[in-house]
Amino acid sequence: MNKRQTRLFAIASTAIASLIFLVLTLDSHRQFPTLTNADTITEEVVRGQHVWHAYNCINCHTIFGEGAYYAPDLTKITQLRGTPYLTAFMKDPSQFYDEERHRRLMPNLGMSDQEIADVIAFMDWVSRVDNQGWPPRPILVTGSAIPGADLTIAQQAAEGQGIPTGLPPGARPVTADNDPIALGEALFRTAVPTCQACHSIAPGVNLAGPSLAGLEAYYEQIVASGEYKGKATTAEEFIRESIVEPSAYLHPGPMYSAEGTSFMPTNYGEDLTEEQIDHLVAYLMSFK
Ligand code: HEC
Ligand code: HEC
Repeated sequence: MNKRQTRLFAIASTAIASLIFLVLTLDSHRQFPTLTNADTITEEVVRGQHVWHAYNCINCHTIFGEGAYYAPDLTKITQLRGTPYLTAFMKDPSQFYDEERHRRLMPNLGMSDQEIADVIAFMDWVSRVDNQGWPPRPILVTGSAIPGADLTIAQQAAEGQGIPTGLPPGARPVTADNDPIALGEALFRTAVPTCQACHSIAPGVNLAGPSLAGLEAYYEQIVASGEYKGKATTAEEFIRESIVEPSAYLHPGPMYSAEGTSFMPTNYGEDLTEEQIDHLVAYLMSFK
């Protein structure tokens, strides 16, 4: 190529690259309203965004991968924890984490009830934005793995995040596809919110919810002690009741409920079929 050809080549390739860039940018902007569900941005969501800025949540947290890496990514937090839990957490975070064990704490920001409700609405809107899998490997809250994300709890544990897994004694390894226990195990990961964001099946590992190992023995124990006031007459029924109507019997401890209401989400009774709940019960009954 002579000088003139080189110049032409440079100009043409720059022009083509710019054009592609422009078209893709315009195309992205065209898609934003759909990807972000722009029609669901209510006044509450907007107020919540102001709360988010006013308290500088981003100084410690990330959303959409942006922000500081001191605290977990909150992009999908409302799909991991329900509103009752988040409300109680923001009122007094120190109740939920122990500085010695977790090494870091969220300060009590002194938010009003209204501000808390608004910021939850904002985070809920954020969680529904189609972010096409971004960020790929966020720092998550203790115990959680987002359904469909490529990082399992075991992988997180291997990378030093999350909690150690490994089947507890008495657990049956997962076998065939149509095995109710295997189906329950899968559902335990994929239900929305995912059960494993709050529960470990390892004995004694309590996350936002208590460990679910040995529920049969636990049920017998609370019945024998006279503490149990629900309607179940067998361990299976107790597990079903706990899933469908979490507040029927409250696991003792200030971390798990406030004013007679469990922090466990209440949508499962409606969102899961009878059969799916049977699978979860079968799975949880398999940990002796
Ligand atoms: C000074 C740093 C800091 C600021 C500012 C902060 N947080 Fe946090 N937050 C934390 C830490 C640390 C954790 C996690 C504790 C852990 O995992 O050990 C956390 C956890 C959370 C969680 C998850 C709790 C759970 O267990 O699932 C939510 C939700 C949350 N913060 C919301 C907010 C919101 C909303 C704001 C702003 C209004 C905010 N945070 C501001 C440090 C902060
Ligand atoms: C946001 C956190 C959270 C999620 C998600 C969650 N739970 Fe819970 N769960 C709790 C809390 C907190 C308790 C204890 C309070 C109570 O007794 O309801 C609990 C209690 C239970 C109990 C009774 C255990 C006991 O010791 O009393 C069972 C069984 C249970 N959950 C199963 C599930 C299953 C199955 C799923 C998924 C379909 C699930 N949970 C999702 C927080 C959660």
